[in-house]
Amino acid sequence: MKSVFPVFAVALFSASPLQAQTSPDHDHAPPQHWSFEGPLGNFDLAAVQRGYVVYEQVCSSCHGMKHVQFRDLEGMGLDAEAIKSIASGYQIQDGRDLSGVLKYRHGLPDDAFPTPVKPAGVPKGMLPPDQSRLAVVYPGGPDRVYALITGYGPAPEGVAVSPGQFYNRFAQGRRIAMKPPLRDGEVHYADGTPATVEQEARDVTTFLAWVAQPHLVARHRTGVRVIVYLLCLALLLFMLKRRIWSNAE
Ligand code: HEC
Repeated sequence: MKSVFPVFAVALFSASPLQAQTSPDHDHAPPQHWSFEGPLGNFDLAAVQRGYVVYEQVCSSCHGMKHVQFRDLEGMGLDAEAIKSIASGYQIQDGRDLSGVLKYRHGLPDDAFPTPVKPAGVPKGMLPPDQSRLAVVYPGGPDRVYALITGYGPAPEGVAVSPGQFYNRFAQGRRIAMKPPLRDGEVHYADGTPATVEQEARDVTTFLAWVAQPHLVARHRTGVRVIVYLLCLALLLFMLKRRIWSNAE
């Protein structure tokens, strides 16, 4: 018990799928402090909600979330009415009419976030990736999502950037076809938080991490319970051993 426990604990605490990686053809994203990291990590639901506002008003015009239903927003503290009204604000593709033209209807809580068919401002043939699991599958995780959406800047001298591309030192190849999505004051936060680019980026990254790992907090809680249980068991076995062997000398 004594020798396996530390190994087990290290394995449990270090296995986070949100961990950063790096690659030579983009800059390494500076590590950020996120409330949801670490074995005791927790989501700040106010930040998740603000992040949703950024997703809805900015990112969703290009990026869909086909694995996330409107109903899933319950987990960030919204009630059924709020979810209904968010859902009905989206147009969902619903077959074709007799002349073959696509039909649309208002969204319902059971629908998934739709993928925009021809997003404006996106070069032809370029598909903005789905954001359902982006914070987990994007190499570099939340740190790099944050770095990328705040990391635009003028290209260094001698570096050519073709039309329709933007210089971004955190993008693969340091160029990306997504125009800078955020500006100061791009959204209005109901809780009065000033909407700076950094704040919007932090919040939307938190939202994307939450959406990608809705059970993270529950998993952490289970992990903590397992550790406490094992510690108690270890103590009990230790006491038992002392007792059994106390007369042996
Ligand atoms: C005008 C459309 C548009 C908007 C709005 C937009 N994006 Fe993008 N995004 C794109 C396109 C197009 C790409 C693919 C670019 C490429 O591969 O060069 C992309 C790529 C990305 C990537 C990189 C994924 C990868 O695999 O390289 C991330 C991360 C990302 N977007 C996050 C966001 C976030 C967060 C928002 C909202 C704050 C947002 N985007 C808003 C069009 C958009």
